[in-house]
Amino acid sequence: MFISFEGIDGSGKSTVIRMLAEYLQHSGYKPLLTREPGGCTLGHSLRPILLNARTSGLSCRAELYLFLADRAQHVREVIRPALKAGQIVLCDRYTDSTLAYQGYGRGLNPEHLRRINEMATGGLLPDLTLLLNLPVHCGLTRAVQRNREEGTVLSEGRFDAESQAFHEVVRQGYLALAAEESSRFVIIDAARPAGDVVLQCLSAVENVLRQRGKGLD
Ligand code: TYD
Repeated sequence: MFISFEGIDGSGKSTVIRMLAEYLQHSGYKPLLTREPGGCTLGHSLRPILLNARTSGLSCRAELYLFLADRAQHVREVIRPALKAGQIVLCDRYTDSTLAYQGYGRGLNPEHLRRINEMATGGLLPDLTLLLNLPVHCGLTRAVQRNREEGTVLSEGRFDAESQAFHEVVRQGYLALAAEESSRFVIIDAARPAGDVVLQCLSAVENVLRQRGKGLD
């Protein structure tokens, strides 16, 4: 089973994914945690370039193809083999990040983006996409705080330094994507405390597992 997590910067994805993975592990599953950009060897090298793209003057298109190169390799090297081995893949960002950030955010053509996403992934879509939704000002406050704690203000702070308006467009983009594909997306209220956010995610995961006859104990 393939689950992706989406949301604006600071929506709390990484904390929630970690907590969810622990729970799944206790229930006898073997979750695999991964992320984009940076979930494979190639992505590991690309991540610092991508996170500094704006300050280093990388064009929107160059940035796009680096995200897609990372995705193509990530699907082949990490995601497909894990799915084949029967693992539950928990992926922090996937194709919808490109549609939300490069499409809605940067104004690139959505049809082109869908086509290159499909080329990069061979058409592999998540079984479930959890959209962690919260007001932009809450997300940015969390992201800036996290960067400060991690000392990553310069190297990883580029998106977090973007204007509130950019992130609002991205957030609305995500909500539009969720409305278009309501059978794949579940919208999670990420403004709630972490424990509560995890419970909402668990209930969505349980629903999909139950549909497949593999409910959690
Ligand atoms: P990251 O530090 O992973 O952010 P977060 O912890 O909030 O997920 O940074 C990834 C950044 O890259 C994030 O701002 C979104 C952006 N991004 C895109 O613009 N397009 C993409 O296709 C992907 C995967 C990420």
